[in-house]
Amino acid sequence: MSDVYYPDYLQLSKILNAQEPESDKLGKHAHDEMLFIIIHQAYELWFKQLLHEVGSVIEIFEHKQVDDNGGELNIVTHRMHRVNTILDLLVKQLGILDTMTPLDFLDFRDMLRPASGFQSMQFKILEARLGLRMEDRFGKQYYTSQLHPEHKAQIEALESKRTLRELVNGWLERMPFLQPQYWPGEAQFFQQLEKLYTGSLVAGEEGNAKLWQEIFVDGSDKRHFSPAAARNALFIMLYRDEPIFQQAFRFLDQLVILDSSMARWRARHIDMVHRMIGLRVGTGGSTGKNYLRGAMDHHYVFNEIADLGSFLFERRKLPALPDSLKKAVRFTTG
Ligand code: HEM
Repeated sequence: MSDVYYPDYLQLSKILNAQEPESDKLGKHAHDEMLFIIIHQAYELWFKQLLHEVGSVIEIFEHKQVDDNGGELNIVTHRMHRVNTILDLLVKQLGILDTMTPLDFLDFRDMLRPASGFQSMQFKILEARLGLRMEDRFGKQYYTSQLHPEHKAQIEALESKRTLRELVNGWLERMPFLQPQYWPGEAQFFQQLEKLYTGSLVAGEEGNAKLWQEIFVDGSDKRHFSPAAARNALFIMLYRDEPIFQQAFRFLDQLVILDSSMARWRARHIDMVHRMIGLRVGTGGSTGKNYLRGAMDHHYVFNEIADLGSFLFERRKLPALPDSLKKAVRFTTG
């Protein structure tokens, strides 16, 4: 029989002895500092789990040919769903910290300087692995300025690694649905879609036709998804009810939900910061609320997938899929 013992297995002697309030060290006990430490530690544990899940999804995309018909797509979708469920909890968890009032916080706030969530390595790694590049960051002048040199180097080293966004772009590019072999006599399929789309525009939306050209045909330095990837993503979104696209659609949807969960966390954090410190600068040396608002607006990673929602139209107007493609994308034979 195994003699695994609960306190040892969970290394509780380490975790439960890892709370050392600064206020106690200085002999100025502040009751709420324990909550402040524990809530940050709980966040960091969940960040660890998020990195574990996202890392495994990246690994699958890096090392395997993700088969739309096989298990990998199911696994990555399932794991991204877990990521989003954890993020949901992380948004709600801030409610516990709301039970600390600004005056309670002042009892120990100055003892923490210059520590800040801004120095959370795991949060920065998570953003970087998802796809946020240094050049796209808001406030990049101080983004790594508060980190110790070895941590700064670690974040910078991540820039040379392929991100989840880049890997998803590659996966989308490789999809074969729009290849001419499936469209005998209908090589102009995408133009057919374009016509349908531009025909659906109402007054004030004329600019969208140009956007179509930029996203699906010409590409742009500002965009992270190539025209080929964007075309296939749109195709999946339009024909998502076909059995073989259902999983791919769910996966793309999880990416969009992830962005919105991160933004909800950021928005919730900003409101809490505003309540706690008003308009004062953060302990981490940024402009505080203004930096956080800029980060919220600029740090979406999968917004180009969400943008594709502009190019959808009613199912009943969708051109029928050619038989050869239908045969190729259905699980059933015959
Ligand atoms: C009293 C509560 C809190 C206050 C007043 C506060 C304040 C701030 C401020 C002002 C910043 C901007 C950077 C700077 O310090 O200059 C920041 C960043 C950050 N905080 Fe908090 N925070 C609080 C609680 C939390 C909690 C519970 C977490 C959970 C991990 C957290 C995670 C972060 C992260 C990850 C950043 C970096 C965000 C980014 O770069 O987009 N904070 N915080």
